[in-house]
Amino acid sequence: MKKKFLVIGNPIDHSLSPKLHNYWIKKYKIGAVYEKKLLNNSEIEDLIYNIRVEKIHGINITVPFKKIVIPFLDELSEEAEISQSVNTIYKKDNKIIGENTDIEGFKLSLEKTELETKNKKALILGAGGVVPSIIIALKKMQIKKIYLSNRTELKTIELKKNFPEIEIIKWGETLDFDIIINATSIGLKEKDEININYEQISKDRFFYDVIYNPPETNFLKNAKKCGGITKNGKMMFIYQAQKAFSIWHKVVPEIDKETINLLDV
Ligand code: ATR
Repeated sequence: MKKKFLVIGNPIDHSLSPKLHNYWIKKYKIGAVYEKKLLNNSEIEDLIYNIRVEKIHGINITVPFKKIVIPFLDELSEEAEISQSVNTIYKKDNKIIGENTDIEGFKLSLEKTELETKNKKALILGAGGVVPSIIIALKKMQIKKIYLSNRTELKTIELKKNFPEIEIIKWGETLDFDIIINATSIGLKEKDEININYEQISKDRFFYDVIYNPPETNFLKNAKKCGGITKNGKMMFIYQAQKAFSIWHKVVPEIDKETINLLDV
């Protein structure tokens, strides 16, 4: 019988995880199948039970369940613990383990750009589920200072409790940063615009958007027009999937051109 893997979220239709994982499953001839499942909060407990009894062998988690699943797990990896965010679940030595591969995904995607992060200043826009992972990745990369800005300030204050070294700035305020990261959902719709003053930012600054569909949000388009260097979240997505895949199947799948092109939707 094939092992079963899932990605859960709500909504889930947009998820490209099945496409990517099934591509690698086929390529490495693994006896598994990866599906997506729309979930409600009340169904989480049952689902985790299915991992316990090995009806399901691994789960990826997306919005809005990355934190909600935590009480149902037996153990968290160090990275899942500090971020309080789980995107990968599996069973090991009879324990259900929660792991966070978004941190490594973001870190690798930035490292591969060969952008120097040491002693740089970064501004993160947003305070949603992915932000703790980004903060931890940036800290690992020895960034000098992290600024955080979100429409709802209360959420930034909550984050500061866990990461006291970050500095909160008002939503809509633009300063000159080396790296600017959009971690909000603004840009998922083609017309979405973020209220920042691009002219106030020096040329050659680095703009990163966690969104990869559409591939170029207005945030990245505007940044480019003003001389910025841009990158979308596609490689972060691929690297987080690669790490989850290697945990589950003990194979590190290759990321070649074909893999990357697979996600061009
Ligand atoms: P979650 O909070 O469930 O993790 P998310 O999609 O990861 O959700 O986060 C959405 C982020 O986009 C939030 O930072 C949100 O800001 P608020 O905290 O103020 O809601 C931000 N966001 C979404 N739409 C926005 C908009 N039109 N203007 C400003 N920020 C927006």
